[in-house]
Amino acid sequence: MCGISGVVGLKSISNLLFEGVRNLEYRGYDSCGVALMNKTRLIIKKDVGGVEEFYRKHNILQLKSKIGIAHTRWATHGKVTQNNTHPFTSRDGNFALVHNGIISNYRPLKDQLQKEGFKFFSETDTEILAHLLEKFFKRSQNVEQAFVKMLSLIEGTFALAFISSHLPEQIFCAKRESPLMLGIGDEIKFVGSDFNAFIDHTKNAVILDDGEYAILSRDTYVVKNILSKEEVTKPITKIEWDSETSKKEGYPHYMLKEIYEQPQTISNALDMETSELDEIVDWFAKSRNTYFLGVGTSFYVAKYAKYIFSRLAQEFFPSISSDEFMVLANVKKQSLVFAISQSGETFDTLSALKHVKSRGARTVAIVNVMGSSIARLVDKVVLQRSGPEICVISTKTALSQMVILTLLAMKFALKKKIITRKTYNLHLRALRDLPAIIQGILNERSGFIHRLASRYSGNRNWLYLGRGVYYPIALETALKMKEVAYIHAEGMSSGFLKHGTLAMIDDDVFSIVFVPPPEDKVLYEATLHSIEEIRARSGFVLGIHFTPPRKNQDLYSEELILPSMPPLTAPLIHLVTGQLFAYFTATSLKCDIDKPRSLAKSVTVA
Ligand code: F6R
Repeated sequence: MCGISGVVGLKSISNLLFEGVRNLEYRGYDSCGVALMNKTRLIIKKDVGGVEEFYRKHNILQLKSKIGIAHTRWATHGKVTQNNTHPFTSRDGNFALVHNGIISNYRPLKDQLQKEGFKFFSETDTEILAHLLEKFFKRSQNVEQAFVKMLSLIEGTFALAFISSHLPEQIFCAKRESPLMLGIGDEIKFVGSDFNAFIDHTKNAVILDDGEYAILSRDTYVVKNILSKEEVTKPITKIEWDSETSKKEGYPHYMLKEIYEQPQTISNALDMETSELDEIVDWFAKSRNTYFLGVGTSFYVAKYAKYIFSRLAQEFFPSISSDEFMVLANVKKQSLVFAISQSGETFDTLSALKHVKSRGARTVAIVNVMGSSIARLVDKVVLQRSGPEICVISTKTALSQMVILTLLAMKFALKKKIITRKTYNLHLRALRDLPAIIQGILNERSGFIHRLASRYSGNRNWLYLGRGVYYPIALETALKMKEVAYIHAEGMSSGFLKHGTLAMIDDDVFSIVFVPPPEDKVLYEATLHSIEEIRARSGFVLGIHFTPPRKNQDLYSEELILPSMPPLTAPLIHLVTGQLFAYFTATSLKCDIDKPRSLAKSVTVA
């Protein structure tokens, strides 16, 4: 949701700024801009398009400067045009500013500025900020005072950074409800929306909290509270991620690389300290009502958790999409709310958690990004250790979250004595076998899935069907298809089909059905029944299943046969095949895999 990068150093930083903003491109990629300092004069360049294209077109790397800020945009207020691209400059050209978030009271502020003679060239909420800096600087002749005055007037959410020709060796930045952090190197300082802006150059980060601003120069930095203006002592956070894991390593796309990393991310999840999870299990036991919370893919993970807790621990914990949580959940002091978020920055999830905290209830979250807003807000955080997920589309993080939630459900079932230690160990074995089985699928089946996906890539309508715990898998894999290949794919519980959607079945609507292993007898039989309903109407069915159909040889129009699996982990294998099917469909259609149109990795706005 927009990426901010800033660098101040000893030598020219143009290339570092480029790397920083390029590494943040997954947060938004409609348009890009930079502000650099030529002695005491600001140079501004901006244009629509991606980071690399912009840098090439405008020869940005030729511009030498020891200080600069850059922005990659995901449009919220105002269309994707050059005028709406950040940075924005003040009327006198002495301030250049980039912003992520939404200034909710920008209209009255803009009206006032217009009355005072300021001219506006964009439709954005951000442009007022540069003008406010100029206006307040004129009064105080002090950049910091002008900055604090501007911050005291604006409402809404922001991570912002600016440079000024009045103080040409300093970067000013501030944060409220949009992520921003500092990178602390020797004789060089960075600011970025996340670690990726500087991970190649320093692993020392200072994570800004809401209501703080910072001033950086090459050899020093200071963080202050916006209200009190007092200095705040901040700890240095050591970034655990290795910058190498953020590179493509020969894969054509991050999405494929991240799908292939899944055996490793599952092992990482299973190597987690069990004591970390035991405390959460105690909280499940003590809670009056527990909710799972997440949005997008993370909501489907939450839905998966609902099924797995019902199945293993005989507990019904509703899952609610974060955007609907506040109107739906009935949170009390004794409630427990368990959030799922890869980025740890998703606005809807963060808002729901703040609401939960205001009710005095307990909060837990699984997140992938250490130091993220959700990780710092909740009472207990489980860091899933999946490594950076660069592709905008979530794959490895979702699977890893499902594994952790399965483990939690098993532990809870054991605590409640619903399963014996022996059964628990069998389940654990099944989870531990997963990485090797997934590796086998990736090695042996991906060619087949590729051919299948290419063959049907012209089809514009898919129904993704599954029963029980396979229903969230159907929803999630359909979402993959929509996001990456822009193909209409509707995830549905297959039992629901005959209550309306069956009318859609014709030559243009194809179905993918996630068939459970036959040992999962009730679900298996019910799923076959749904397939027969489609076939009876001459509908196309791609069956993904674990055994060849015994009796009915023409049950499927196409089939993908998977190695036999225990029912506990079978849905997770389906997830991987669905990810690959979407990926290969999108590559056949030559889609922009890692940066699908209109999307952004972390949705930090309402
Ligand atoms: C889908 C996807 C999104 C995110 C959603 C929540 O591939 O990535 O649907 O799952 O925006 O994001 P997090 O998990 O960061 O809270």
